[in-house]
Amino acid sequence: MHRHRRFFCIVLSACACAATAVGAQTNGANPPLALRGVMDKLGHDMQAVTGAIAQEDWALVARLAPQIARHEEPPATEKIRILTWLGAQASKFRGLDQQVHDAAMAMGDAAQRGDGPAVIDAFARVQHSCLACHQGYRKAFAEHFYPAR
Ligand code: HEC
Repeated sequence: MHRHRRFFCIVLSACACAATAVGAQTNGANPPLALRGVMDKLGHDMQAVTGAIAQEDWALVARLAPQIARHEEPPATEKIRILTWLGAQASKFRGLDQQVHDAAMAMGDAAQRGDGPAVIDAFARVQHSCLACHQGYRKAFAEHFYPAR
């Protein structure tokens, strides 16, 4: 339905030409990426949805769902680092983020209709997309961006 500024899409076209510019890794201490803060917020918002579902507070679900769909993005330089690392996997990674977006928007629509079962179905789809990305990428992501020393 609506098109929003998506997580990684704005830099995808810039990725190939910028890749050489970000070859140098920045930090020695490997501080957390901004993505982790984005994820923390997603985790909190999803927990809040769980609570709202239990209360049948559909208005609250309807407020939270678009925040999940249109979550913050890391700064452009970080996105380029991540996309450079992803390489050929970038479109799959972005596709999972798009799935989160679409399912969260469907959850918001269902909440606006007060359709509890449809909210729960969409909630499950959101979680499947979170899980798919975590199972597919989180370990390798940590190994790459937070190497043990
Ligand atoms: C496109 C991939 C992708 C999707 C989709 C995704 N995540 Fe993540 N998530 C990651 C990666 C990569 C990390 C590891 C980040 C790091 O450690 O810096 C992560 C880490 C997390 C963490 C741990 C943060 C911490 O403090 O260590 C939470 C919580 C989280 N995600 C929640 C969610 C939720 C909830 C959703 C769905 C609404 C979601 N994620 C969807 C890629 C994704």
